[in-house]
Amino acid sequence: MDRLQAVDFVRRFHQEQPQAGDAADAERRIREVLAEIDRTGTYEHTPAELAFGARVAWRNAARCIGRLYWRSLVVRDLRHVTDADDIAAECFEHLRLAGNAGRIRPVVSIFAPDRPGRPAPRIVNDQLVRYAGHRTPDGRWIGDPRGAVMTSRARELGWKRDEEPFQVLPLMVQERPGTAASRPEWYELPDDSVLEVPLSHPEHPWFAELGLRWYAVPAISDMVLEIGGVRYPAAPFNGWYMGTEIGARNLADAERLDLLPVVADRLGLDRSSERTLWRDRALVELNVAVLHSFQEAGVTMADHHTESERFIRHIAQERRQGRPTPADWSWIVPPLSASTTPVFHRYYDPVDPALRPAFLARGS
Ligand code: ARG
Repeated sequence: MDRLQAVDFVRRFHQEQPQAGDAADAERRIREVLAEIDRTGTYEHTPAELAFGARVAWRNAARCIGRLYWRSLVVRDLRHVTDADDIAAECFEHLRLAGNAGRIRPVVSIFAPDRPGRPAPRIVNDQLVRYAGHRTPDGRWIGDPRGAVMTSRARELGWKRDEEPFQVLPLMVQERPGTAASRPEWYELPDDSVLEVPLSHPEHPWFAELGLRWYAVPAISDMVLEIGGVRYPAAPFNGWYMGTEIGARNLADAERLDLLPVVADRLGLDRSSERTLWRDRALVELNVAVLHSFQEAGVTMADHHTESERFIRHIAQERRQGRPTPADWSWIVPPLSASTTPVFHRYYDPVDPALRPAFLARGS
């Protein structure tokens, strides 16, 4: 346990949250935390510290364009939940709360932290909802290549399903990592926890015939939430989707569903030369379809113009509070029509990898 990090965090919590008490309260709490670290090797956050820490971890996420709403993050304090079955059940409840019948709410579910010599349970999946992917003997892909590693992982554990394009992977939970009993348990996601949107195009009836769909809640489940030196390895969190994540990456990347040639052919575009810009034209129609379909289904989704404008407002708002907004240009700028958005035409405060609280890549 890094005592300095603990002290820094508690101090910042009291600075930013005056309702938590005065300077004397802050010093008292710091002494209490240090004594607890001396006694136990770690310390327990108060519910208010935990909620603040999680929200600031989002505010600090340099790759996220959606940070304007960081204060509204719903924090579920599930530190007492350590059993694999219960973790899975709470993850499904997370998806229901976040999905909220289409009005997506940003939510984080925080399970037990690591303790000295006792690593906490982990979620194996990189997102709570992901589609399986398999390569057929003739080299074609069924499903999402991005899900291939988790698909083989799940199969090793005994999961067996037909090879279909939009097959949701099971949730895999490792209750006791680093022990002889570290084999994960797997759980099929209940239907009522997975909100999905069938994709159609406002002008092209053939688009619906492609049978495409995507899930509504992107919930990252393989990042470690670190607050004041305490590491929470199971802390799945979600926001809502920005259309381009699906339309310009998941469905379009050659290493993902690779749909641009399919869409271009249906649109009757000339693919004999790159100079016809068939890729670009197909990409736009794919993104039109994604935004249209989520709208039709009543599921929250931002377009990249609106989300870019919100991010610029977020930066201004943070500046008024005297805070920088570290941001990674290459992640903030949308993968479609970049130069038509305000986030393209500027640079950002530098990213500090030591900034905390933070959501960290597993293994870092
Ligand atoms: N880009 C990832 C995906 O397409 C999701 C990352 C988080 N996105 C978000 N809008 N919170 O699944």
